[in-house]
Amino acid sequence: MTIRHFLKDSDISPAEQAEILNLAIEVKRDRLKYQPLVGPQAVAVLTDKPTLRTQLSFCVGVAELGGYPMFVDGKLAGGGVRESVADVARVLGRQVAAIVWRTYGQDRIEEMAAHVSVPVVNALTDDYHPCQVLADLQTVAEHLGGVDRLSGAKLAYFGDGGNNMAQSYLLGGATAGMEVRIATPAGFQPKASILAEAQAIAQETGGGVTVTDDPVAAAAGADVIATDTWVSMGQEDSAEARRSPFVPFRVDDAMMARAASDAIFIHCLPAYRGNEMTASVIDGPQSRVWDEAENRLHAQKALLIWLLDKAVESGTVESGTVGSGAVGSGAVGPGAVGSGAVGSGGGESLR
Ligand code: CP
Repeated sequence: MTIRHFLKDSDISPAEQAEILNLAIEVKRDRLKYQPLVGPQAVAVLTDKPTLRTQLSFCVGVAELGGYPMFVDGKLAGGGVRESVADVARVLGRQVAAIVWRTYGQDRIEEMAAHVSVPVVNALTDDYHPCQVLADLQTVAEHLGGVDRLSGAKLAYFGDGGNNMAQSYLLGGATAGMEVRIATPAGFQPKASILAEAQAIAQETGGGVTVTDDPVAAAAGADVIATDTWVSMGQEDSAEARRSPFVPFRVDDAMMARAASDAIFIHCLPAYRGNEMTASVIDGPQSRVWDEAENRLHAQKALLIWLLDKAVESGTVESGTVGSGAVGSGAVGPGAVGSGAVGSGGGESLR
């Protein structure tokens, strides 16, 4: 078996996604239950772009898993500038149990993953934000009363259909069996290859995907209303030119009124009140954005627990080792998820 990474939403099957989401709900109830990184073993949290939530939730999460979060400033590290991404990967892979990376092109994180024998996690690229969508799915599942309720739920997204959130909603939502509606102006469509992949997944799961320039139709009866900034990281120079096409896609009280009466509003944050949504929506009673931000922590911990377990299962990481250099004393081992649980050393395996 080869090492499992999480480079995009469709790297996990529908059953695996459900397993991770249920684990996320479990670790939210008992935050220190699983200690797969006890030692502490390190996880590199590397970012080439600005971040609050991502660095916070991964660093707190790794610490709560008994590990050491090694934050690496991507600009200082200079992957692809000072040295190749492959060489960065080779160095990191010898010293850490997993690599979390926020970067630009999807090709960069794929190159990283190709040169390490530890799990690599996409913490946002230009194409995808899969950890955010895991947290969003957890938030929706909590609202609906369980992970099994995601199937058939309607999620309507308003904004740039070609940004990483829209594209991850397509893949992650389809994997969950949801009906994903992307409401976006002409010229801002998702990549055709990603839309085609989401359609294929939806056929398998019984979900559905739609891309429309009609925000009113997209909102009708939706269980979840989602939006994102109109200006993604790296697009700041064209911010003003990008504004006007998106105005009809702003989420306001009238838009929320078209959704189901118990619909929730989500936004990955940071949010810009008066642009993609009104203050009355994000600060209103249907908003779940703070739960969603908290769920980054729980969803990513569940993902790391799961990936570390798979790494041992694959045989690419030996029990009690990180990469090719022994670290610690058996914290990561077959079925060891939970075996280093705080207190008694007991805990549960995923198998
Ligand atoms: N939602 C999100 O990824 O937040 P940050 O950019 O602050 O990490």
